[in-house]
Amino acid sequence: MTETDTPALEIEGLAYAYPDGRQALFGVDLTLRRGERVALLGPNGAGKTTLVLHLNGILRAGAGAVRIGGLPVTEEHLAEVRRRVGIVFQDPDDQLFMPTVREDVAFGPATAGMRGVELEARVTRALEQVGLADLADRPPHHLSFGQRRRVAVATVLAMEPEVLVLDEPSSNLDPASRRELADVLRSLDITVLMVTHDLPYALELCPRSVVLSAGVIAADGGTQELMCDPELMRSHRLELPFGFDPGSVTVPVH
Ligand SMILES: Nc1ncnc2c1ncn2[C@@H]1O[C@H](COP(=O)(O)OP(=O)(O)OP(=O)(O)O)[C@@H](O)[C@H]1O
Ligand SMILES: [Mg+2]
Repeated sequence: MTETDTPALEIEGLAYAYPDGRQALFGVDLTLRRGERVALLGPNGAGKTTLVLHLNGILRAGAGAVRIGGLPVTEEHLAEVRRRVGIVFQDPDDQLFMPTVREDVAFGPATAGMRGVELEARVTRALEQVGLADLADRPPHHLSFGQRRRVAVATVLAMEPEVLVLDEPSSNLDPASRRELADVLRSLDITVLMVTHDLPYALELCPRSVVLSAGVIAADGGTQELMCDPELMRSHRLELPFGFDPGSVTVPVH
């Protein structure tokens, strides 16, 4: 297998139970090719965030394996895995802890050894990508929730990851910010796994979707096809917004 054939992300037989005994994942298999953008859909409690937390080793597989660009997510590879995978968490407050926005965005690249003008340029670019360059010197905890989410996205973009994982990136964004984030995601030439309840967003950005339901993959296919299957949608509590007809939408060329 050549370097370019190696999947960006491979999950094999992943099962996980939380320490209190609640099992959240029951043998998940998922492979993402390099450069793919895939939506991870599913109702509340399906296990989406639990799955995401395995992708850079925050949670360790109870059974099965996760590989990033062929590299197993294990203790010995954790530093390299975390360089390759950037995760934007569901709650931005899990991600922001520095006195200013600029320091939060600089934290990852600085920890990786970047300094001086190179670091400054990286931070400026990431903040510009999310439209927040003018807030660089503000304390993150003085920003609105939507602004904090955009800072959280910038902290991850600043790392220039190979695989970008976003857990509900469009929640709490105003429509213009939501669209601007879509433009950023489309402009990146990397592998993206996006957890979302925002089905039009998934349709707009991700040619392929995976439905996780009760800890197993219930469907994996073209986003438009899945959304045009009312029985599948209903059985996994996936509801389209009022008046939205996924079949009538011309999906953008990616
Ligand atoms: N720390 C924890 N301890 C015990 N059980 C947990 C913990 N975190 C989550 N769970 C349980 O694991 C299951 C999956 O939760 P998870 O957060 O992965 O769902 P999700 O698909 O991300 O849902 P949502 O759409 O609401 O974000 C749920 O039944 C949840 O109650
Ligand atoms: Mg979640």
